[in-house]
Amino acid sequence: MNYKTQKIAYYFFATSMLLLTLQIVFGFIMGFAHMGYDGLHSIIPFHAARASHNNLLVVWLLTGFMGAAHYIIPEECEREIESPLLAYIQLGSLILVGVTAIIGFHFNWWEGRKFLEIPRPLDYLVVVNVLMFIYNIGMTIWKAKKKTTTTLVLFFGLLMAALLYLPGLIPTDNQTMDSYWRWWVVHLWVEGVWELIMGGILSFLLIKLTGVDREIIEKWLYIIVGVTFLSGILGTGHHYYYIGTPRYWLMIGGIFSALEPLAFLGIAIYAIMVAKKGQRNHPNKMAMHWTLGCAVMSFVGAGLLGFAHTLPQVNLWTHGTLVTAMHGHMAFWGAYAMLVLAIISYSIPNMTGRKLMNSSISAYAFWSTTVGMVSMTVAFGVAGIAQVYLERKMGMDFLEVQKAIEIHFLGLILAASLFSSGIIAYIYEFIRCGLPTDAPVDKEYV
Ligand code: HEM
Ligand code: HEM
Ligand SMILES: [Fe+2]
Repeated sequence: MNYKTQKIAYYFFATSMLLLTLQIVFGFIMGFAHMGYDGLHSIIPFHAARASHNNLLVVWLLTGFMGAAHYIIPEECEREIESPLLAYIQLGSLILVGVTAIIGFHFNWWEGRKFLEIPRPLDYLVVVNVLMFIYNIGMTIWKAKKKTTTTLVLFFGLLMAALLYLPGLIPTDNQTMDSYWRWWVVHLWVEGVWELIMGGILSFLLIKLTGVDREIIEKWLYIIVGVTFLSGILGTGHHYYYIGTPRYWLMIGGIFSALEPLAFLGIAIYAIMVAKKGQRNHPNKMAMHWTLGCAVMSFVGAGLLGFAHTLPQVNLWTHGTLVTAMHGHMAFWGAYAMLVLAIISYSIPNMTGRKLMNSSISAYAFWSTTVGMVSMTVAFGVAGIAQVYLERKMGMDFLEVQKAIEIHFLGLILAASLFSSGIIAYIYEFIRCGLPTDAPVDKEYV
């Protein structure tokens, strides 16, 4: 490491990996429940498993982003993190709030709004927690002499993500308005400001891994950020088709969300071009795999599979079915999960001094999670299309349809097992690298 406080990132990453493991456990509980094996129902009912699965996902990704910020910002700003103590307090309190929320879900302490299930008192604690993080990172940048575009894009993304948590707290007893504001958080996160975070982290990785000029990489960043904002903001309309909002959203949502895949395509093309152009033969091959994997798979999961149900004529049939879960898995995995795994793969050898990330176990982790997630997506897609036909076209009862499609979840469980074996391999390598040290980093790796 070039800066001692970069090692704070390690503890965020370790937390992130722990929460990912827990998320997968809840995924399996739901997968089996869908197959008809809901033995744990009295302790972990489906709604509790689902809320836990979704919230753990969001929290492990945010923890990963925070870890990334603690690693990237000192290096880009050429100074230590403002207050390491505050960083550790913030991580500790984040874990505490997260654990309380997950336990609460199992005792029916939740709000029942997908992705925003955390009960109100805990929401306020989340806000305080994130303010601590933003303050610490913000001050680190503020006092730095050097402020790169990558730093600013990453920081602006994190700041906006924090601010966009607030619309979800607007009180209303109107179902339509509640849904309306919920999408400001959920949609404007993943199809808006999180893309800035992605742009920032990807450009940092590409600068390091390819050796291509910072100016070239950052210029492209601006363009992608522009397209993201233009299409993503009004693209929110693709969630307003059938929730009780005015009809003009059909047109606005349809047109602007159909443009969104272009931003993701832009990212994929940009990453591949830069990688080809690069002169540098960086020894950390797996970091490059995850970086390019993220750029390409986010286009497939978010861009292509998002487009698959974004037009109002299609969404009319697929809304809220397993077709949504099909897209949700691949999009989150490709865009944000692979991004976090990329920055971890890049930074761990530098933090711990152990260069184990290029092993065959690491390669297995990459390929089996990729093939596993593609297969899971296919399983959800097949189940989803069957559901749409039986339930929406033929008018069969919801529960009867759920019974009829149980068999598809056998495929899901098999695919998820392959995927999970890859996650186990990844975490095994993570643990094998050991704890961070203050030893100087091998120049070849930075
Ligand atoms: C590997 C084991 C996993 C299994 C077995 C699994 C299974 C499931 C199941 C059964 C659901 C509920 C679908 C429903 O509403 O009926 C679900 C929801 C969800 N899972 Fe997973 N999952 C796994 C891993 C993951 C991972 C790694 C991610 C993200 C990277 C993820 C993201 C999601 C999302 C976003 C939803 C909500 C989808 C929606 O809004 O409809 N899951 N998962
Ligand atoms: C990385 C970016 C993205 C992620 C992580 C993501 C994830 C998700 C998730 C989890 C949901 C379910 C949300 C809920 O019901 O609460 C969803 C819904 C949806 N997404 Fe995405 N998405 C992304 C990008 C896109 C893009 C670019 C498009 C369009 C081109 C798109 C189209 C849709 C549509 C139409 C729905 C609503 C499905 C329904 O009616 O049930 N998504 N997305
Ligand atoms: Fe959306």
